[in-house]
Amino acid sequence: MKITDINGTTKLNNGVDMPVLGLGVYKAKEGREVVDSIQHALEAGYRHIDTASFYENERGVGEAIRTSGVPREEIFITTKVWNDDQGYEQTLAAFDNSLKELNMNYVDLYLIHWPVPGKYLETWKALEKLYKEGRVKAIGVSNFLQHHLIDVVENSDVVPAVVQNEFHPRLVQQPLLDFCKKNNIQYESWSPLMRGGVFKIDTLKDLAEKYKKSVAQLIIRWNLQKGVVTIPKSVHRERIFENADVFDFKISEEDMCKINALDREERTGAHPDDFMDHFENN
Ligand SMILES: NC(=O)c1ccc[n+]([C@@H]2O[C@H](COP(=O)([O-])OP(=O)(O)OC[C@H]3O[C@@H](n4cnc5c(N)ncnc54)[C@H](OP(=O)(O)O)[C@@H]3O)[C@@H](O)[C@H]2O)c1
Repeated sequence: MKITDINGTTKLNNGVDMPVLGLGVYKAKEGREVVDSIQHALEAGYRHIDTASFYENERGVGEAIRTSGVPREEIFITTKVWNDDQGYEQTLAAFDNSLKELNMNYVDLYLIHWPVPGKYLETWKALEKLYKEGRVKAIGVSNFLQHHLIDVVENSDVVPAVVQNEFHPRLVQQPLLDFCKKNNIQYESWSPLMRGGVFKIDTLKDLAEKYKKSVAQLIIRWNLQKGVVTIPKSVHRERIFENADVFDFKISEEDMCKINALDREERTGAHPDDFMDHFENN
């Protein structure tokens, strides 16, 4: 993984280059808000946007990119198949719909959003078909634990290129990171800032002060030094720029360990083994 500047990329297990820092757009409102956020991000040098059909803003993502002046092929776009759309045929239809919303003819990375029990292997077969047809440059999964990953690997032809999971100083899951590294699956973090939770942790405030950076910058840098691709979300121009300004300092090994030690196995989102009720009740 190359983390010298915002153009840094990591080579996925199929040879595709994935930018190490992207903009997340969960809860960025469809229309002006998501379009403006992406335009700020592209101006700051980001070339990676993470959306999902569930976020209901794929149309704005497409519009922002088309009107930005940056060529489509220079931007890495991720979207995801939602739980209600899982199964082979349903996933193929959901993908067509995402492309239509984005108004694009391919995406760079297509992910299974959550491991819907009894369905995710069929869903994966649909992703393999899309990949083999060249309609997606890489395929992966999200919210998959080690046992889900083993299930996919043992029952299919393509090893996921990426796993996108909740990851921040309160949820490190080092054995899962090690498993992914060993199996050449790129780890990617969602909610790297713990949806604001990191700003309340004193150790992080002290370390940020030591490096003369903000807590957000410290944590984004910690992600990258751990070999994790990261997609912090903001709809504010100054924060989007701040979150990209992480390439002029290095966290020492000792301080990396201090941050790792904040792990409490604490989640902001659902547990991947028990999420179906979470979404039914929300
Ligand atoms: N695969 C999945 O299941 C899944 C689940 C959740 C998220 N994701 C992806 O991961 C992305 C990031 O996760 P997230 O959106 O949940 O949370 P996050 O990036 O950890 O935190 C976002 C929150 O932090 C604030 N923020 C951002 N930069 C800041 C800064 N420099 N200073 C102070 N506050 C700052 C944002 O506010 P403002 O926007 O108001 O600036 C927002 O409230 C999502 O957008 C989405 O693309 C994926």
